[in-house]
Amino acid sequence: MAPDPRKAIVPGSYDPVTYGHLDVIERAGRLFDEVIVGVVNLPVRKGKTLFTAEERCEFIEDATRELGIENVSVTPFANLLVQFAHDSGALAIVKGLRAISDFEYEFEMNQLNRMQDPNVESVYLMSSPNYSFLSSSGVRELATFGGNIDDLVPPRVARALKERLGR
Ligand code: PNS
Repeated sequence: MAPDPRKAIVPGSYDPVTYGHLDVIERAGRLFDEVIVGVVNLPVRKGKTLFTAEERCEFIEDATRELGIENVSVTPFANLLVQFAHDSGALAIVKGLRAISDFEYEFEMNQLNRMQDPNVESVYLMSSPNYSFLSSSGVRELATFGGNIDDLVPPRVARALKERLGR
């Protein structure tokens, strides 16, 4: 199957999804006709996640529905990113780029992905200013110590974080 130039994947661990991720997903939905959010489901990678892949997918499905983003679907994946793009029939991988710290990591990933399959193109969206320093790990840390996370993640995610991590 030839890749569809109107289709893109937006991959990530999303542990959990933040408003920064949702901003990138929404903007990708304006650039492409169909967006597939790929949720990494590899327990051995980077250690255990706080939320299961099923929970992480549900949070994104719930939030995109609430935001009225219609051309987005969510699916877990457990193989190489370029293979997932290929299996999805997508021509492009869309990723968000926050402050400079993301660049080095993404530059490396780009080279690796390109080496695996030069036909899959990566597209980077600069994060919106409000979300330049927002990360899932930062939100998890705030939630652990009772910080206010209501402006950082959707209400359902905030509730789940407080239940799982709150002291
Ligand atoms: O920073 P994240 O959200 O954990 O990133 C996940 C992902 C898949 C986007 C990133 O690890 C990546 O670009 N990986 C490319 C290399 C690959 O295919 N790894 C195996 C699948 S995780």
